[in-house]
Amino acid sequence: MQCHPITGFLGAEISGLKISDKISEKQTSFLKNALSKYLVIVLPDQFLTAEQQRGLADVFGAPAINPYARGRGEYPEMTIIVKEVGDTTGVFGGGWHTDLSFLDLPPRGSILSAIEVPPYGGDTMYLSQQAAWSSLPKPLAQLLEGRKVSHVGKPYGVRWAPPVEEQSMKGSTTRNDPDADRERWHPAVLKHPITKKKGLYINPTYAHRIEGFDEDKSTTILQMIYDHCALPEHCLRLRWRNGMVVIWDNYFTQHYAINDYHGFRREMRRVAYQNFNSKGPIDFQT
Ligand code: SIN
Repeated sequence: MQCHPITGFLGAEISGLKISDKISEKQTSFLKNALSKYLVIVLPDQFLTAEQQRGLADVFGAPAINPYARGRGEYPEMTIIVKEVGDTTGVFGGGWHTDLSFLDLPPRGSILSAIEVPPYGGDTMYLSQQAAWSSLPKPLAQLLEGRKVSHVGKPYGVRWAPPVEEQSMKGSTTRNDPDADRERWHPAVLKHPITKKKGLYINPTYAHRIEGFDEDKSTTILQMIYDHCALPEHCLRLRWRNGMVVIWDNYFTQHYAINDYHGFRREMRRVAYQNFNSKGPIDFQT
């Protein structure tokens, strides 16, 4: 098993490892170490069954149900992300975000498996929140450290609901939930339990207000930080192939599904997981 770094700050492709029904202890510790170090790990040519993908989530923690995009049938924790050939609306995950940061207990990580990808386009971008933190101008870093930021589920709530024509996966996501508008407060900066590296925990889809600042002032400050996070040096652009599996650390990265493949079908399968006995991002505060 080998790791091949993809960029200077995040991402590694893994070779020499085939996920099967029984994941060995050696594979488990290799995957966990690689994920801690690279934050996004890419496993080409896996072609996992739903059962195997769920088994892979078990290696990292407890598979977590997405309350706004529940899987159907046997696998409620498995979100099927589809854009059909004739669909010209938004895409699921089509903006920088960390998954479900507006929940009390956002998932610790996610596993995405490519079932059908377009011949071109449909890439996913990732960014390292650790790289963004370590190069953040000092006044912004001082302002954020030790503070909390509120998160709200704007796409799923009422107050900030996007126009229906822009909503992705209509019919298979839950929308207009007043509880999604409720602010949940998480630390703005987290510390990785293994590598001890610090990272920002804010994202433009869900972060809303900085503790001690009103909405307007928060928006101005947060926008500066988002621009910094998305600098090309902090990013990785991932080209998918059918059968590829990607696992990411959902507390120390953001990701963005690029919507540039109208006229082609794309289908992915996602399972998120939660650490056992987790209290969420608060466990990682600096
Ligand atoms: C997501 O998990 O936000 C979607 C990623 C993708 O479909 O590329």
